[in-house]
Formats: sequence, C-alpha cells, structure tokens
Amino acid sequence: MSVHTEVALAGLRLRNPLILASGILGSTASLLVRAGSAGAGAVTTKSITKEPRSGFENPVIYELEYGLLNAIGLANPGMDFFKKELKRAKQLLRIPLIASVAGSRPEEYADLAARAEEAGADAVELNLSCPHVKGMGLDVGHDPKLVREIVEAVKGSVNCPVLAKLSPNVTNIVEVGKAAIDGGADVLVAINTVRAMVIDVDSKKPVLSNKYGGLSGPAIHPIAVRCVYELYEAVGDTVPIIGVGGVMDWRDAVELMLAGARAVGIGTALYTYGLKAFKVILKGIVNYVKEQGFRNLMDITGLAHKYS
Ligand SMILES: Cc1cc2nc3c(=O)[nH]c(=O)nc-3n(C[C@H](O)[C@H](O)[C@H](O)COP(=O)(O)O)c2cc1C
Repeated sequence: MSVHTEVALAGLRLRNPLILASGILGSTASLLVRAGSAGAGAVTTKSITKEPRSGFENPVIYELEYGLLNAIGLANPGMDFFKKELKRAKQLLRIPLIASVAGSRPEEYADLAARAEEAGADAVELNLSCPHVKGMGLDVGHDPKLVREIVEAVKGSVNCPVLAKLSPNVTNIVEVGKAAIDGGADVLVAINTVRAMVIDVDSKKPVLSNKYGGLSGPAIHPIAVRCVYELYEAVGDTVPIIGVGGVMDWRDAVELMLAGARAVGIGTALYTYGLKAFKVILKGIVNYVKEQGFRNLMDITGLAHKYS
C-alpha cells in the first residue's frame, strides 16, 4: 500500500509536508534551491526587511547541548536586493517559494509582501517576532490588535496565501492566532524561537552581544507541541497550521502533526544533521503512517485530540 505524501496548504500544493524554516539556509536563491533538491516540500526565505540590516555584532549564535541560542538581529540585504534572489529562486525551484517578511508597521509589511509576490513568491510569511517600536522592547506579535491590522493590510496588498508566524513569547498564543485569522491569515505558523539567555560563568557576561537571544532546537520542541495543540483545539481544520520547533527526527515531526500541524518546518536540525535531514525525516513519517494503517500523511493531523 503506497502512502500519499502530498499536502494542501491554502492553495499551495506541497509534494511533502517538510518545509525549510525561515532563517536557515534561506538567504540566497542557490541555498533555497539546494534545500529543494535535498527533498524539502517548500522553502522559506530568511526574513527580509525594507532596508538592508547588518544585524548585531558577534557573537550572534551559541550552541548548546539542547539547542541553539541566536540573536542575528535580522541581518539581511533588504528587499531591493533580495527581489533578484526571489526571481532567480522562482525560476529554478519546482516547489512553493515562501517569502518571509519582517517589519514594524502594517504598511511596511504590506509593501514588502507585495514586492515579494511581484518577484515570484508563491506565499508570504509574516515574521511577527520583530521589535515593536512603540512597545517597549516587545515583539509586534505580542499585540493581537496590531497583528490583526498587519495581516489585514497584507491581505489587501497580495493575492497569494498569507502565513502568520506566531511568537511563543506570549501569555495566550490562541488569542494572537485568532487575531491573525480575523485579519485574514490563510495559515498559522507556530512557533518562532523562545526568548532566552545564557551567561558565561567565567566572564560573568551573557554570551551573546545582544544579551538576549532566541532559543531553537530540542529544548523548545515541547513548547511548539503545546502551542500547535492549543491552536488546533481553537481553530480545528478551518486554518491549516505549520508546526515548527525542535524537529530533529521523524517522531518530533509526527508529534507536531498529531497535535494539529498539517506541515512541519525544519530549522536547527539542518545545522545538526545537514540537508539529509529532509529525506531521513520524511522516510520515518511515511513508515509511521503506513504502519498505523493510513494512506495519507494529512490523515494524522490533529489525531492526538481524539485520544486526549
Ligand atoms: C539562526 C536562526 C535564524 C533564524 N532566523 C529567522 C528569521 O529570519 N525569521 C523567522 O521567522 N524565523 C527565524 N528563525 C526561527 C526559525 O524559523 C524557527 O521558527 C525556530 O528556529 C524553531 O525551529 P527549529 O527548532 O527547527 O530551529 C531563525 C532560527 C535560527 C536558529
């Protein structure tokens, strides 16, 4: 019995549910294409801002046994430059190209999204873990009203599907997810990195130049599972969810799918295992689905809710 690996995601058709997460290998067309050749079902670019950003000073990344701490500071060449990479990636890729955009105001997100679509993006992902100028150091994703306004503005400026990528650093992720849906989001993506800090005991200083960073990898996986579970409980199948966070092997991916994810993003695992992670993880998911007697990968989405 063969298993169907295709996944439908708000009009996008993915050959399999594994998506290159934003910020890892997504900074040039050739890296995006390499992820596609390695077996990804779709690829997401690094988050692109209006102006080029050099990011924070080194050190910007710190490896832990249980994950990665990073504060890159949204280093990217800006949309004027990146449009060329998007055009080239679109020409070469045979899978959906998702452009991640980052800003601070609704109009800024709307303008970036429109330019990304014009350059060839098949969907736009809104990175809502960006500094909120008026918000005393909080991310835009903390404010449900602002999230709704951002998504609404973007929906008014593009025709392609709009993905809202939620921050886990909030008290109630469902409230923010619902605000994104009210604004018209076609897909929810959960989660971005978890705000964290590591201090070096010899120098007695935080290890990152920015002091605070975003934690990814195995340490955050149970947080991602909880967030996806809560979101699915609230929205069911009405809006598909992409689960991201600490997917290192097929079990982690299946867990997110059982919690409610229709597709799964992979980031830190690519640092640890390289691009072969896509094929290895997909094979494991397919075997599991087959053993469980299903014919379709999408059949396991949300199943944990039936058994809880
Ligand atoms: C080095 C690094 C850079 C990242 N850059 C971005 C980014 O530009 N935009 C974004 O939305 N998420 C970014 N992320 C977050 C990832 O897309 C993902 O949500 C998070 O790392 C959790 O997944 P993982 O545990 O599989 O890495 C970054 C993560 C890492 C490790």
